[in-house]
Amino acid sequence: MKVVVSIGGSVLAPDLDADRVADYAEAIQSLDAQGHTLGTVVGGGPTARDYIGSARDLGANEIELDQLGIAVTRLNGRLLIAALDDRAAPTPAESYDEGREAIRRGDIPVLGGIVAAQTTDAVAAAFAEYVGADLLVYATSVPGVYDADPNEDGDATRFDELGADELVDVIADIEMDAGSSAPVDLLAAKIIQRSGIRTMVLDGADPKRVVRAVEDGEFDGTEILPEA
Ligand code: UTP
Repeated sequence: MKVVVSIGGSVLAPDLDADRVADYAEAIQSLDAQGHTLGTVVGGGPTARDYIGSARDLGANEIELDQLGIAVTRLNGRLLIAALDDRAAPTPAESYDEGREAIRRGDIPVLGGIVAAQTTDAVAAAFAEYVGADLLVYATSVPGVYDADPNEDGDATRFDELGADELVDVIADIEMDAGSSAPVDLLAAKIIQRSGIRTMVLDGADPKRVVRAVEDGEFDGTEILPEA
């Protein structure tokens, strides 16, 4: 199966703990050893937020902040590459083409951000669409898609399954609430909707959950089903 795994920065490198990155690399390598074709996308996490916060105080504009964010995602990408060793393409792919070429060579591409004004949620969905992935897995710090922000609303309920059209509606509602954070952003939801890629959103704290989700389809989170 061709699988794109999106690893949130807060999940991969919440505190730059090498063991966590090594565990993720091991999970990716075990899927690779099972014969799956893999692409990975890595987020910026708290390090990106720290840089962006500091640069904002210095007067940087939004595009400059995004560029800083992209640079940090690629730094995190280099951490994962270091842990994946010779199975990974040697540098983070800076374009979808570069990522796809790495897959064709038989390497595992690691992508970070690609262009300003989006997040790596959208990168993962676009890359999955571009390479014709069978499955897209979001390993995030929010264990699925909820009808409200679970950090803000104690009554928020998680969806076990969601159609792609419903996903777009739910995420649009969450994003309308200032300060709320959705596990997948609206651009990503729209790409998932148009591409019809089967998508799983799960709590990425333990990388083994990603392996189980891909191998057995078993996971605790939300599955986004393509529209009929
Ligand atoms: P992330 O994808 O990590 O952002 O990219 P996020 O979803 O806000 O962070 P998490 O999920 O909590 O870890 C970090 C920042 O990099 C820029 C954006 O500013 C984003 O907030 N970025 C990332 C881009 O501008 N373009 C991209 O393609 C990716």
